[in-house]
Amino acid sequence: MMIPQKVADRLNEQVNHEYFAFWTYTAMAYALESMDLKAYAKWFFMQAAEEKEHAEKISDYLLDQGAKVTLKSLSEPQANFTSVQEIVEKALEHEKKVTGQVHEILALSRSENDPATENFIGWKVAEQVEEVASVEYLLTLTKTASTQRDLFMLEGKVGKLVAAQKGH
Ligand SMILES: [Fe+2]
Ligand SMILES: [Fe+2]
Repeated sequence: MMIPQKVADRLNEQVNHEYFAFWTYTAMAYALESMDLKAYAKWFFMQAAEEKEHAEKISDYLLDQGAKVTLKSLSEPQANFTSVQEIVEKALEHEKKVTGQVHEILALSRSENDPATENFIGWKVAEQVEEVASVEYLLTLTKTASTQRDLFMLEGKVGKLVAAQKGH
């Protein structure tokens, strides 16, 4: 193996965190489908797919470095929510938590003298800035809605966000 064991273990943990994010956002998407908010649901399905990509990207890196990938069982994601705003707020909380995890990995790669991982994880540091910003924007939009009717009006805007993200 070409990277320190400690770093490999921490990255493997992150693979599991990313799959949990996939699981969490998928549960949120289903909850939104139940509320008949199809564009919001699509946004969360898209976000879930991105989390799976993150898990795969970190897994590929571990394998390239001669480390193993070990998947753990996932805990049950929250399935019942009282409002759309609650869902988006929880997503934002989640993204902030992941940002903290990524910064920990960066600090660990530095303290373990592992320049390859330090360089690799730079991608994820930048990615998290984007993710937090896009969830923050969705929260700002969502907060403008005070009625069910407003939420349905927002669906068009959220649909456009999904379409814009797809080309990117
Ligand atoms: Fe992620
Ligand atoms: Fe994320």
